[in-house]
Amino acid sequence: MATYQQQYAERIQAALEQALASVTSNPRLAAAMRYATLNGGKRLRAELVYAAGRAVGADLQRLDAVAAALECIHCYSLIHDDLPAMDDDKLRRGQPTTHIEFDDATAILAGDALQTLAFSLINDPASGLEDTQCRAISLELASAAGANGMVGGQMLDIEATGQQLSLAELENMHRRKTGALISAAVRCGALCADAPEAEQLAALGVYAAKLGLAFQVIDDILDIEASTEQLGKTSGADQEAGKSTYPALLGLTESKDLAQTLYQEAVASLTMIGDNSRLMELAGFIVNRGH
Ligand code: IPE
Ligand code: IPE
Ligand code: MG
Ligand code: MG
Ligand code: MG
Repeated sequence: MATYQQQYAERIQAALEQALASVTSNPRLAAAMRYATLNGGKRLRAELVYAAGRAVGADLQRLDAVAAALECIHCYSLIHDDLPAMDDDKLRRGQPTTHIEFDDATAILAGDALQTLAFSLINDPASGLEDTQCRAISLELASAAGANGMVGGQMLDIEATGQQLSLAELENMHRRKTGALISAAVRCGALCADAPEAEQLAALGVYAAKLGLAFQVIDDILDIEASTEQLGKTSGADQEAGKSTYPALLGLTESKDLAQTLYQEAVASLTMIGDNSRLMELAGFIVNRGH
């Protein structure tokens, strides 16, 4: 999209480079972690951390650690999502998936290590975060990534493969497998501010929840409408695998309408956030993107 720019692309890349330089135990493990993390990606979760944090006055250095942590968890989730036992995908970000480039065991371990690296980054004194912030952000992220969040959603996704879910079941699955981490990006960004107001956190929470669901609805639509070249991952993979998706249940038109409704609701919740232009822009990109 012409309007979308990764405003903090260099900062997030530098923060990830620095974090990954700490992996000294084994060159192959380090290479797989770097491969899965530094090879592009839209960096939307990092951008949401910065946008939400800046909107409520958070310090940039603190946001670097949290943005890098979110991308580590996200990249770990992609490595595992692509494994033969999960979605069995061979292409990611226009390159072979991590288990194809390396091997399954290395990919699993690289994902595991990226997950723990995320929590090290937040809790490292170099993050500049206060102890109470480290605790709140760690809890937020652990809950979003864990059994009641992303991992729980991925389990529902696996169980639902080849099944017909109800609309409520599909929404529950999408909110967990994708929405939870998008929400955590926004909420953790805001928690980097010294004293975010409860009303601001609540408004950002609504924005993030709407956007998180919209994100996966659009991902499902793009799997049908965009080409492998545009996506950098194999187009049509959901239907091929018998995945439960919004277009499969509602059709493309209704799925697109739902994404637009969620977008409207997301931006409407931002009225009480002073500096909301970047959050608005990111919401627009998420629902209008072509990859
Ligand atoms: C893909 O996320 C996985 C989903 C949660 C749908 P992104 O589309 O944000 O992937 P990258 O980071 O840009 O590659
Ligand atoms: C992935 O959903 C969600 C997580 C990685 C947690 P998808 O399986 O739809 O993501 P893509 O389409 O492979 O990127
Ligand atoms: Mg999947
Ligand atoms: Mg997948
Ligand atoms: Mg998908």
